[in-house]
Amino acid sequence: MTRFPKFPFAWPLAAASLLAVVLWFSGPHASMAAAPPAPDVQDVYLDKCAVCHGKDGSGNTTKGRKLKVKDLRSPDAQKLSEAEMIDIVTKGKGKDMDGFEKELGKDTVKSLVTYYRALAKK
Ligand code: HEC
Repeated sequence: MTRFPKFPFAWPLAAASLLAVVLWFSGPHASMAAAPPAPDVQDVYLDKCAVCHGKDGSGNTTKGRKLKVKDLRSPDAQKLSEAEMIDIVTKGKGKDMDGFEKELGKDTVKSLVTYYRALAKK
């Protein structure tokens, strides 16, 4: 049989020291090694989008030409706002571009669009 401490203070005390241990390990000491690796937006773009949109956003790939992906620098793509692009990447557009929200999540979609738009300035 497990023996529970008779002392009513023992549990909060145990909890507090556990918390201290957790705080210690999640503090600056551990942050270098233990930070969860944030997915690198460039890697995601190259992995999920570049087949069609090209590394540079030009759409100049075998698949991109076939599906008539627009060059990011074309007037048609440039007139889209960031919000409209987020919407397209979230829900997809036409029959060839899938929505990515389920797969990648809102935040990644947003940073992908930021990354994609920045390609035009390179
Ligand atoms: C299977 C090929 C394919 C993949 C993969 C793909 N797209 Fe697209 N994307 C398209 C096509 C085709 C269009 C144009 C749809 C239309 O105008 O009907 C498009 C349109 C867009 C647009 C609207 C601007 C424009 O050029 O028309 C954005 C923004 C966009 N894609 C971002 C992304 C991002 C970010 C990813 C990766 C998460 C991605 N796409 C992955 C094919 C693809």
